[in-house]
Amino acid sequence: MKNTEQPKAVLVLFGSTGDLAKRKLFPSIYNLYQKRNLSEQFAVVGLGRREWTDDILQEHVRASIHEEVNDATADIETFVSHFTYMPFDVTNKESYTRLKNKLAGLDDEYHIPGNRIFYMAMAPEFFGTIAESLKSEGVTNTKGWSRLVIEKPFGHDLSSAKKLNGEIRQAFAEDEIYRIDHYLGKEMVQNIQVIRFANAMFEPLWNNRNISNIQVTSSEKLGVEGRGGYYEKSGALRDMVQNHMLQMVSLLAMDIPLRLTTDDIRAEKIKVLRALRSVEGERASTDAVRAQYGKGQLDGKEVPGYLSEENVDPHSKTETYVAAKLMIDNHTWAGVPFFIRTGKRMGVKSTKIVVQFKELPLNLYAKEGATSGPNLLIIHIQPDEGITIVLNGKKIGSAETTPVDLEYRHGTTDRVNTPEAYERLLYDCMVGDATNFAHWDEVSLSWAFVDALSEAWEHSDKPLASYESGSMGPREADQLLDKDGFHWWPVEDV
Ligand code: BG6
Repeated sequence: MKNTEQPKAVLVLFGSTGDLAKRKLFPSIYNLYQKRNLSEQFAVVGLGRREWTDDILQEHVRASIHEEVNDATADIETFVSHFTYMPFDVTNKESYTRLKNKLAGLDDEYHIPGNRIFYMAMAPEFFGTIAESLKSEGVTNTKGWSRLVIEKPFGHDLSSAKKLNGEIRQAFAEDEIYRIDHYLGKEMVQNIQVIRFANAMFEPLWNNRNISNIQVTSSEKLGVEGRGGYYEKSGALRDMVQNHMLQMVSLLAMDIPLRLTTDDIRAEKIKVLRALRSVEGERASTDAVRAQYGKGQLDGKEVPGYLSEENVDPHSKTETYVAAKLMIDNHTWAGVPFFIRTGKRMGVKSTKIVVQFKELPLNLYAKEGATSGPNLLIIHIQPDEGITIVLNGKKIGSAETTPVDLEYRHGTTDRVNTPEAYERLLYDCMVGDATNFAHWDEVSLSWAFVDALSEAWEHSDKPLASYESGSMGPREADQLLDKDGFHWWPVEDV
């Protein structure tokens, strides 16, 4: 990332003693600093319930950089000196007055023109109280700008999301709110628009006249990793589909925006979500599959099933896998299924998009025993990054045709959920670019979709399917495509 603007701001980190701060935020701020995307005119105030001191916070920041950043070249001591800690009780107004004074002092010390980012990296139940008190105690009342960064989950259904939004909107305007979806910070997710809109090879073909179906897979090897308590209430539908999967679908299906501005891009994405057909009633059984992992083998080791995980009800019906056929009822996409699937404890960690083009009306080479197939565009999001175009060519020395792969891969090692996504998003927030954050309309439309499906599942007699850990999901997900004459393109080896 090379940017010329060096924002000057104080970052106020609610939840600075937590895991997200340690694994993602500290390393990301450091990376921005070392790439000189941040000048010396920045400060970070860590807040938390614990009685930490500046020294303790700084020690944690140091440790997280040593652990997470491979090539730390900028001076770590100077960097950590920008961090300060305040024990904070979110329900006590006096804490906010102390914070206000602290921020005024930091503005003076680092010559910061009153710019503030309030980053909520903590449990959402207090977001409303915090936003309200930040305003009532005058913490957001500054000469510069104030922005609120908010992590998922943004509510657990439409009504809780509305309530939360109402609360934060008391203190922040929509354009001051940055709702994180870390998939939007991923290099290749950002590349979807470039691939589509900067290539004459794809843009004219990107519609129902030329595309037969689109498949979006995000599979994980991880199980619930000690997050059973949270996951029991969310399941894969709320944890992955409501946000990351629908965001990718919107980027794939949006029309070309008028300009590359935040408003124009978001407006097109919102239109897609408005056209997304609700999967409710009978369709929840025919067009969607929910499943839970059983025990199995992963990388040569036995792993337990979901019901034996910590903090999981042994009779739980929570889905750890979702596959669905999505239809977008607009002129461009009528008739084209978007198949999505996501699950935990699957055989590979992979996020990939496969765009399958329609076959030629008359393919002279399509005959008995022929090996030619449809053209594919594969967008590799992670762990590999790049694209593959699958064409048909002639087998050398024979008259037969054969699929030929044209590959472009970024030279990356495993970049699974790396700090880079957070680094980009933090920087975007500092420079006031909200394009890669979720607008309230996107969040609310996604929740409406998820709520309808979830409710239909509750009333459905179709049992939860199951799949073995280490597999690529339940049989039912294959049948979902089979009905339309399609199959999942493998994500393991393409
Ligand atoms: C998070 C989910 O939003 O995304 C996790 O809460 C999931 O359950 C994670 O593991 C996946 O992110 P990534 O970047 O590893 O695909």
